[in-house]
Amino acid sequence: MNRKMNAALITHYKQEYPTIETVDMPKIGANDVLVKIVAASINPIDLKTKDGGLKMLLKYHMPLILGSDFAGVVTEVGAKVTTFKKGDAVYGRVQKNRIGTFAEYIAVDQGDIARKPQNLSFEEAAAVPLVGLTSYQALHDIMQIQPGQRVLIQAGSGGIGTIAIQLAKQMGAYVATTTSEKNRALVESLGADEVIDYRTQQFYDVLENYDYVFDTQGGKILEQAFRIIKPGGKVVSISGLPNARFADEYNVPFWKKFAFRLVTRNITKLEKTTQADYYFLFMKPSGQQLAILSRMIEEEKIHPVIDRVLPFTQIAQAFEYSHSGRAKGKIILKMFDPSVEHE
Ligand SMILES: NC(=O)c1ccc[n+]([C@@H]2O[C@H](COP(=O)([O-])OP(=O)(O)OC[C@H]3O[C@@H](n4cnc5c(N)ncnc54)[C@H](OP(=O)(O)O)[C@@H]3O)[C@@H](O)[C@H]2O)c1
Repeated sequence: MNRKMNAALITHYKQEYPTIETVDMPKIGANDVLVKIVAASINPIDLKTKDGGLKMLLKYHMPLILGSDFAGVVTEVGAKVTTFKKGDAVYGRVQKNRIGTFAEYIAVDQGDIARKPQNLSFEEAAAVPLVGLTSYQALHDIMQIQPGQRVLIQAGSGGIGTIAIQLAKQMGAYVATTTSEKNRALVESLGADEVIDYRTQQFYDVLENYDYVFDTQGGKILEQAFRIIKPGGKVVSISGLPNARFADEYNVPFWKKFAFRLVTRNITKLEKTTQADYYFLFMKPSGQQLAILSRMIEEEKIHPVIDRVLPFTQIAQAFEYSHSGRAKGKIILKMFDPSVEHE
């Protein structure tokens, strides 16, 4: 008989909130580990997935357990797993076609996880994988920031912004960020050199000649980034639209590439007039990069920022709060207490 677990799932797109149901536990493949999840984080992608917003990029089957990243304890390992053993405390971001971390257990490829930083609790560790990897891939892999270069990080007080500011400072950048006045002290404490209150000032009236913009907002705000970018600079967006460059990297079918080219034609014009490049980033799981972040965390160079921790049973409230767009750092779901319950 299949073993059972509790999981938060949707049965159709645009369901108001995921509901907690009893489902079969995931089965592991040869390269997988089974992790008993202690904590998971809410990311805006969970809300977008729930509402069918990623249908163009990803196909999911219902019922669908939501949730992208986690921290927990390994309880089983597949036949080919060499790097982890039962009892290891780990964290990670699962592949997009294997989501489901709002659950008691997740099966995950050994290549997509890393050891939990020793100086973090499970709740703190769960705050890192998705936003940490996204920020690392934007600032390190695409921008390749060099000391002294200038970067604008939009929404410095959010899940992404709070880790991205710290990473950019570690890379030696001069960091400007946008947020509202109430979050000024927070982003300054993370290292921001210049803070723009987006409710009273336009960032393009204050900043000019920037090497990079890390756009987390998309739409008009993304287009406005080209007003401050210098020739040869890069605008990297995680909330804009995918373009032809992204289509090539992802090897998508020609008709999708055509559609991407069409929807980003304004951005392509802006690239030409400013001589800057636009990148759309869809982050990828990586245990190796997560291990780099673990080291930086253990060396106390960066740390997660947590807005609040809620019990798993309050997943609807957690979704509602994320939907408000006001989170300061990460929203965490606590699945179970490892000191009380352990296999
Ligand atoms: N493509 C990818 O791979 C990828 C990966 C991760 C995230 N993302 C996307 O990136 C976006 C940001 O994610 P997140 O986790 O950082 O979101 P989040 O934590 O929900 O962001 C909330 C923060 O945004 C700030 N904010 C809202 N509107 C703003 C504006 N116009 N200007 C400046 N700050 C503003 C808020 O500050 P105030 O309260 O002061 O307004 C709040 O602190 C989401 O759309 C997410 O889906 C994409």
